[in-house]
Amino acid sequence: MSESTMTLTEDQIEFYRRNGYLVLDAITTPEEVAMIREVYDRLFASAAGRETGDQFDLAGTDDDDEEAVLPQLMNPEKYAPELQDTQYKRNATAIARQLLGTDKLNFFGHAIMKPPGIGAPTAVHQDEAYWLPSEEHNGISIWMPLQDTSVEMGCMQFVPGSNHGGVLPHRSIGGDPRVPGLELDPTVTDIGEMVECPLPAGGATIHHCRTVHYAGPNTTDQVRRAYIMVFNPPPKKLETPRDFPWQTARKAAMAQRTAEAE
Ligand code: NI
Repeated sequence: MSESTMTLTEDQIEFYRRNGYLVLDAITTPEEVAMIREVYDRLFASAAGRETGDQFDLAGTDDDDEEAVLPQLMNPEKYAPELQDTQYKRNATAIARQLLGTDKLNFFGHAIMKPPGIGAPTAVHQDEAYWLPSEEHNGISIWMPLQDTSVEMGCMQFVPGSNHGGVLPHRSIGGDPRVPGLELDPTVTDIGEMVECPLPAGGATIHHCRTVHYAGPNTTDQVRRAYIMVFNPPPKKLETPRDFPWQTARKAAMAQRTAEAE
């Protein structure tokens, strides 16, 4: 397949820097979206990554008798090698290089599915709250839906300009460290208005790791599939490490879960 020819305009870069997010109408072709969608459905239907701990319920505890309300698969490329060489990845890489000003980027992909009707909201959070507090981060996430995605289906929503602040206090969703997902601590109020970003299939949003964001529940009768690519410049140690206390209990619970899965 061809190399990426995708380039952001000066206006788009300026918008991203100011607001911490950007919306693109298309990041790949409809044909490729159809191909990825098939792979994606196969991966979730076959419970790929369940045994290795790569697939889990982001908003639940994965108790045996409960259906996952926000299933997430980390590194889907590991389970479907055809995802390693996509136009989406080439375009996303080109955009990340342009925005971050370097070709040296660490990459990871993840897939977040919202089942129809029961699909849970993705709680309000900043991605950096999940990352190492001892390092400086400037990463970006590129979020592509595999079907037209409305507000009711759980499209992305962002607080413009929140990328310019620091990392806010977080906690595990509902205060339960067995739940892998994080949410802003309830003591944080007045975060500002969210901007809703409905998208066509194969469109994309881009956001900075500090941008406060959210996606609503899926109240429709259609599956909401999102395939996310995260790009990070090589980490730099901070001279004064921060403390993200919400990670401690969560990490212990995740390790326990992985050990049980093996
Ligand atoms: Ni996020």
